[in-house]
Amino acid sequence: MTEIPRHIAIIMDGNGRWAKKRLLPRSAGHREGMKRMISLSEHAFDVGVEYVTLFALSTENLSRPQEELDGLFSLFRKYFAENIQRLLQKHIRLRVVGDMSLLPPDIGELSRKGEEATAAGERGTLVLAIGYGARQELLSAVNAAVRAGKELSQEEFASLLSTAGLPDPDLLIRTGREKRLSNFLLWQCAYTELYFSDKMFPAFTNADLDHALENYAGRERRYGKI
Ligand code: FPP
Repeated sequence: MTEIPRHIAIIMDGNGRWAKKRLLPRSAGHREGMKRMISLSEHAFDVGVEYVTLFALSTENLSRPQEELDGLFSLFRKYFAENIQRLLQKHIRLRVVGDMSLLPPDIGELSRKGEEATAAGERGTLVLAIGYGARQELLSAVNAAVRAGKELSQEEFASLLSTAGLPDPDLLIRTGREKRLSNFLLWQCAYTELYFSDKMFPAFTNADLDHALENYAGRERRYGKI
């Protein structure tokens, strides 16, 4: 039996380049990306992954042109109710991480509602990172520790992060040819296996995910030991 990672994280990069190559607007790339994101996460849960974390929007992405951001928020609003229904049917819990104060207020409200509605989901957890930046998250945890005026253990520190209570990712997949973390889960990925795909995210199929999972199954994780 191949070993399935308990937690996979995906940096969904390449929507814009996928659209450009087809002479389509960037928004078309994001729409296709949204569809892929739903299908891939359902597939991951179906094959036994328990946690799927998706990097949908970084703090740095928030300085993109307002038109592109508005398009992304519209997509979020448009597909939100339908996706919550899917999560409920599949007993998947939603968790949203990121700085909601940087996003339009209704995005934060919808996220909270989605988390509440799916709170009983016991089959898996879908973690959506929007308005998320790892350095900002780390700094806010450090500042909380300073305010508390005491030294912390690794466990206590992790409990101050937005991912508190979640296991660290076992496998991080980045599509879109770039090979970097781009301010994503810097603490949590200390021992995560990395997998890079040259495919743009809208072209990354469920079979490509299977391939990444097979690749993961062949790795030896030593956590610094011999
Ligand atoms: C990276 O591609 C992708 C994003 C910044 C957005 C990812 C969003 C989705 C998959 C749709 C779902 C959206 C929400 C808000 C839930 P890029 O635009 O950086 O592509 P490029 O590097 O080719 O320009």
